Amino acid sequence: MALLDILEFPDPRLRTKAKAVKNVNDGIRTLVDDMLETMYEAPGIGLAATQVNVHQRVVVIDVSEEKNQPLVLINPTYEVIEGEQEYDEGCLSVPGYYETVSRSEKILLKATDRDGNTFEMQCDELLAICVQHEIDHLNGILFVDHISKLKRERIKAKLVKAHKAELKSRR
Ligand code: NI
Repeated sequence: MALLDILEFPDPRLRTKAKAVKNVNDGIRTLVDDMLETMYEAPGIGLAATQVNVHQRVVVIDVSEEKNQPLVLINPTYEVIEGEQEYDEGCLSVPGYYETVSRSEKILLKATDRDGNTFEMQCDELLAICVQHEIDHLNGILFVDHISKLKRERIKAKLVKAHKAELKSRR
């Protein structure tokens, strides 16, 4: 297993639309294991392959308190069932910033698991938010795209400044 580097906003690679996984093979399972390790280490409750610069439709999630219920989603899609909910979202690719985003409350998730079996699952509350947030990543969309342009630009400017300071300190 290996820790993977997480891309940070406004890195243009986060805008890549990921391709469908054709075969759930050992390469994909290694990616899943590395993504889980990276997510738990961060720590975060979800990670999309896009965030580690792998542009395939793979997501890992664990919204459990004990961090012992990993959910692996390959080629995930969802249908809205009903409702709306608001939550202060954050993202490992937008470190340190939290903004209120409105999402569907109840969704029907369809995906393939790490053994290549398809499954369906009804999701609500935090899990529903997380699934929508991570599938956004696979389409090159970040949570900051759901807030005002003014707020987004402010976060962008601060992160660009922070990245420059970090580069300087490494020289
Ligand atoms: Ni995210």
